[in-house]
Amino acid sequence: MSNYILDAKDLTKTYEENEKKIAALSQFNLQVAKGKFVSIMGPSGSGKTTLLNILGCLDKPTSGQFMLDGLDITKMKEEELPKIRAEKVGFIFQKFNLIPTLTALENVARARAKTGLEIVKLLGKLSFEEQRTIILVTHDKKMASLSHQMMFLKDGKLLKGEKKGTLETEHMDEFTCPKCGGDISPDFVLCPYCGTKLK
Ligand SMILES: Nc1ncnc2c1ncn2[C@@H]1O[C@H](COP(=O)(O)OP(=O)(O)OP(=O)(O)O)[C@@H](O)[C@H]1O
Ligand SMILES: [Mg+2]
Repeated sequence: MSNYILDAKDLTKTYEENEKKIAALSQFNLQVAKGKFVSIMGPSGSGKTTLLNILGCLDKPTSGQFMLDGLDITKMKEEELPKIRAEKVGFIFQKFNLIPTLTALENVARARAKTGLEIVKLLGKLSFEEQRTIILVTHDKKMASLSHQMMFLKDGKLLKGEKKGTLETEHMDEFTCPKCGGDISPDFVLCPYCGTKLK
């Protein structure tokens, strides 16, 4: 069995429009370990929404294999997907019309009035405190950099040379930022709350 909670192999997604085929994803590969916070950036039309729909079990790829927590989603029937989404996936949309399918996301749900950046910081906290796996799609570099790993999508493929984010922690120990007093990890190079450089 795969050691990754998300394991996508050779995914393609082709849409047909006016008898023309559009490859929204092509030979896409991604492996994400449990508790990792991955951010994905990419220009308009690069396949971000298509990818999130597949990773969130809202849609299936045209070909390739997508495993979620050891389950082969590509082999499942459409009617089996809602249960999997309810048990394993949470969605937070751009405008924060939240669907708190996971109790662990209730913290984030309570943050409706907060700014995008504050939401992303809470997501970082969820990843290190509760080992939640986070996939964030954003056009905002600052938000993306608060993850473990920044990835870049172009023409339905991940570009080589992904960048490490500032969220460098594997464990959450008691530790606070000397400037704002926020709970942080000793591994942090940057305080996610106030932006103070820690190392
Ligand atoms: N339902 C659809 N039917 C036909 N083509 C589609 C469909 N959905 C997406 N596409 C095409 O697939 C490609 C990838 O689209 P996608 O929406 O995944 O990009 P995106 O990175 O989310 O873009 P944006 O930043 O504008 O939201 C684009 O060329 C788009 O036109
Ligand atoms: Mg999109």
